[in-house]
Amino acid sequence: MKTKIELLQDKVKQAHTGGGAARIESQHKKGKLTARERIHFLMDENSFEEIGMLVTHRSTDFGMEKEIYPGDGVVTGYGNINGRLVYVFSQDFTVFGGSLSETHAEKICKIMDMAMKNGAPVIGLNDSGGARIQEGVVSLGGYADIFYRNVQASGVIPQLSAIMGPCAGGAVYSPAITDFILMVENTSYMFVTGPNVVKTVTHEIVTSEELGGATTHATKSGVTHFACANELDAINHVKRLLSYMPQNCEETPASLPYEATNEERISLNTLMPVNANQPYDARSVIDEVMDANSFLEVHREYAENIVVGFARLAGKSIGIVANQPAYLAGVLDNHASTKAARFVRFCDCFNIPLLVFEDVPGFLPGTDQEWNGIINNGAKLLYAFSEATVPRITVITRKAYGGAYDVMNSKHIGADMNYAWPTAEIAVMGAKGAAEIIFKKEISTAENPEEKWLEKEKLYSDTFANPYRAAERGFVDEVIEPAQTRIKLIKAFKMLENKVVNAPRRKHGNIPL
Ligand code: HXC
Repeated sequence: MKTKIELLQDKVKQAHTGGGAARIESQHKKGKLTARERIHFLMDENSFEEIGMLVTHRSTDFGMEKEIYPGDGVVTGYGNINGRLVYVFSQDFTVFGGSLSETHAEKICKIMDMAMKNGAPVIGLNDSGGARIQEGVVSLGGYADIFYRNVQASGVIPQLSAIMGPCAGGAVYSPAITDFILMVENTSYMFVTGPNVVKTVTHEIVTSEELGGATTHATKSGVTHFACANELDAINHVKRLLSYMPQNCEETPASLPYEATNEERISLNTLMPVNANQPYDARSVIDEVMDANSFLEVHREYAENIVVGFARLAGKSIGIVANQPAYLAGVLDNHASTKAARFVRFCDCFNIPLLVFEDVPGFLPGTDQEWNGIINNGAKLLYAFSEATVPRITVITRKAYGGAYDVMNSKHIGADMNYAWPTAEIAVMGAKGAAEIIFKKEISTAENPEEKWLEKEKLYSDTFANPYRAAERGFVDEVIEPAQTRIKLIKAFKMLENKVVNAPRRKHGNIPL
């Protein structure tokens, strides 16, 4: 007869086998890790403590009472990542395809509740065929229980979703509410309705990968923030991403030790092209100003006309938003506005100071932009910056034109410090267009209209294509030599460390969604 200890050992062993050796092999053949292997690579060694290993489903329809797997298709628990407490759930595709049953959902809800009470991030490793088909509405209820908690936790604790396999139907809405989504190329996909339904309804023929693979969501929809080459790459991204965030909204991100050296960056003095219409890569400014190799770009392949991401300055975590002159001249459009707005709001939720590098010719004109809501979308970015109470600094490196000047963290909407390089041009619009409008009569009646236009363009440019009008008004606090940027920013962020803003009492604002 087995001892009680042996009985326990048997149960644990059974739980560790998941859906069995054959299904584990099939998982590996697809190039995927198992739920437990993922946790092993994610968490600090020996730090993971499992909760609910022996939970089983309660379903009796379709002979389900004969198919019992301890854990019911999801491994849940807590542990450390680089010494920090996190809660994690990892769906086990080898058990009913990782599908979500009533009890599977209860396990996820349990660790989410604990994460909220204890103020620590939740990381979801998703690999699931969706609602447990044998269970019907209780499974749908389970999803909604998770969605509700995702919303309650939003802005309280960081929530990260790594999609390691299928994520379809309503299941996509949990990751969508979390702060960051990471997908694995070729082995993960997300869609509300799959290729078969699409074919029936719209007659489009499309593969899962085309419809909702990592590349699709990283480039076309912006649903995923990261498209990772493989699962280990995704896990490493989760760890790195987490390092810039605090445990919860009451804390500030941990700083890395930093030893001050020569902070002058002479190369910045010659970075700007002589011709103001020539592009340069915004990342070259970021890399030079911030701590070496500290920039983690978010949404790298989506709306490339704006660059967002985390970096460190003198060891401190900073959220960066930079117009990208190397792509569409850095113009603001629908996608760039929403991408940046969401990033700004994340940083504000979690006490991550914001730094803007501004070089923007304005908003992108056109029917496509107008009909797709550039009014609302641009307003989202304006709203996001305006409501942010974290320390906020802007450096205008070159163009700051039109409404985009106001929107990109201007002094008027609450930025704390606004710097400009001598190459800055701050005006209502570009000199060519401006001259055409305000000197229309003079140009059209001139003997040589082309010459007149050029003359007036130069006049407008000489008057406004510089930072000094804004500096005279105090809209720009200081015009700085580019080489001094890092020094100025380190000092200014230190000065703003204890910033407090008493916002008016309200339930919540009404961002133009
Ligand atoms: C129960 C499921 C399941 C599910 C897969 N399985 N999905 N069991 N409920 N939703 C089981 C399979 O029966 C199989 O069991 C095992 O998981 C692996 O599935 P395969 O089909 O063999 O794997 P694969 O070929 O890789 O295909 C994976 C898949 C496919 C694309 C995910 O299984 C699939 O299409 N599943 C159904 C997806 C779906 O329609 N879900 C409901 C979506 S609606 P065995 O015993 O053979 O190993 C939804 C609503 C949520 O989720 C709404 C929330 C508001």
